[in-house]
Amino acid sequence: MEKVRIALVGAGSIGRIHARNVKVTKDAELVAICDIKEERAKSLGEETKVSKIYTSYEEMIDKEQPDGIVVAVPNYLHSSVTVYALSKGTNVLCEKPMAINSKEAEKMVEAYRKYKKVLMLGMTQRFTSEAQVLKRLIEQGELGEIYFSKADLLRRLGIPGMGSWFTTKKYSGGGPLIDLGPHMIDLATWLIGFPKPKSAKGYTFSKIGVQNKGLGGWGIPEPGGPFDVEDLAVGLVEFEKGITLYVQVSWATYTDETFNVNIFGNKAGVSYNPPKIITEIEDGNIVEKNLVCQHVDPYKREIEHFVNVIKGKEALLTAPEEGLTIMKIIDAIYASAEKNKEVKIE
Ligand SMILES: NC(=O)c1ccc[n+]([C@@H]2O[C@H](COP(=O)([O-])OP(=O)(O)OC[C@H]3O[C@@H](n4cnc5c(N)ncnc54)[C@H](O)[C@@H]3O)[C@@H](O)[C@H]2O)c1
Repeated sequence: MEKVRIALVGAGSIGRIHARNVKVTKDAELVAICDIKEERAKSLGEETKVSKIYTSYEEMIDKEQPDGIVVAVPNYLHSSVTVYALSKGTNVLCEKPMAINSKEAEKMVEAYRKYKKVLMLGMTQRFTSEAQVLKRLIEQGELGEIYFSKADLLRRLGIPGMGSWFTTKKYSGGGPLIDLGPHMIDLATWLIGFPKPKSAKGYTFSKIGVQNKGLGGWGIPEPGGPFDVEDLAVGLVEFEKGITLYVQVSWATYTDETFNVNIFGNKAGVSYNPPKIITEIEDGNIVEKNLVCQHVDPYKREIEHFVNVIKGKEALLTAPEEGLTIMKIIDAIYASAEKNKEVKIE
């Protein structure tokens, strides 16, 4: 195979970043761009020197027959665009969350198995050097028996696109739990080797966005549009062997901003941001060892990985089944918050 021909579906905020990264990836070529808002696709086309512009992803896939597409549209479209592309023999890199819920994600896994093409997920945090280094340390058994993990991403002013699809449940699936949760829950679960989740207890709160406060810089606001999602979500997930995960994610809160994952083992613990290992040395003293990792741009690395997987040069790092598990955890936290009781995860 010569250059891998990539097309983009969704020329919004993250789509533009992906398009630029495809342009600088050695073995890739950006061949077409699709957005229902034609002017967005055209302006990105002008910037990236891509002349094939579409407003229908089906037409783009049928006509251009790209080797791969990058799916960067609102959450409710992830499943249908992915399934269509896979059914046409096109490899897919789909943004997080995998889908709007686990039922939709299941359709993607079925299509992946049926059509046997690549289905990669945009689990960007896995591609940082820090995550790669911690994963290696954990696989080497440095932590001993792992029993607890904690994932926090708390923003003060981070509601994306107030009134747009982001804050409209039927298009987004929810607030920070489905928006930030996939990154944080995935990282905390992937680092410890994806134990099977058994149950979840969750809580969601909608306190700041309803006052039209807490607005952040991401996304394009649509004044007057709905805000019918949570702005803080908390979940406690129990995995097999009693391993427990505590997750808290917010778009808007009056608290310290945090972005971290901690993994607790009976010999040592690790922290993601900043990356360090907390361990005991021979004399019994507990020490922190800071891990200075070489910076890589995880978004660039993600596109390179997609291209290399299509070329058969790298094994897929983000198994679709793992994405489905993350969606089941998110569904269970939402369901538990709604019913105010623990929910089993099948
Ligand atoms: N991995 C990450 O770190 C990361 C970061 C930001 C966003 N995302 C995800 O990427 C996706 C897009 O987010 P965004 O911030 O770029 O949103 P956005 O609203 O800026 O962009 C979405 C684009 O999709 C277009 N679109 C809508 N329906 C379409 C259709 N049927 N066909 C073609 N185009 C269509 C819109 O016109 C818009 O230009 C979301 O799922 C989001 O969760 C991931």
